[in-house]
Amino acid sequence: MSTEVAVTLTVNGERVSRRVEARRHLVDFLRLDLGLMGSHTGCEHGICGACTVRVDGVIVRGCLVLAAALDGAEVETIEGLSDSGEIRDLQEAFIARNAAQCGYCTPGMLLTAADLLQANPRPTRAEIREHLAGNYCRCTGYHAIVDAVETVAQTRNGEA
Ligand code: FES
Ligand code: FES
Repeated sequence: MSTEVAVTLTVNGERVSRRVEARRHLVDFLRLDLGLMGSHTGCEHGICGACTVRVDGVIVRGCLVLAAALDGAEVETIEGLSDSGEIRDLQEAFIARNAAQCGYCTPGMLLTAADLLQANPRPTRAEIREHLAGNYCRCTGYHAIVDAVETVAQTRNGEA
């Protein structure tokens, strides 16, 4: 038996009202109900970080949060951050450093990197690695990603 719940939330600045199945996870709600395919699903167990999105300014695992619990919340996805230009420098650095190969992990990586630089504008390489440790990448070996985030931090600080 399915149980539906009415929710109204803001997604990338737009107010959205839907009835959602009570067990629908946020990442599935975004992808399947709203057509926002930038947030990916990997493990669906909170391990890989592919589903990372922001809820009320804090990054969360979209596969661990129920959409029905988000009435009144403000959700931001990679599409919203891309459109606003907030992470343009990170996106450009990922391209320049070849830190996005297949791209599957990239939206989650970018949101997590943005989160780090917001909290710690001058991270060491070790701090970058630690903050991104919950985001898995099968392609890059991580060095290029750390390079990209470090470059952006230095550029934002006028050090590059
Ligand atoms: S799909 Fe959510 S953490 Fe892997
Ligand atoms: S670029 Fe392929 S998983 Fe990270």
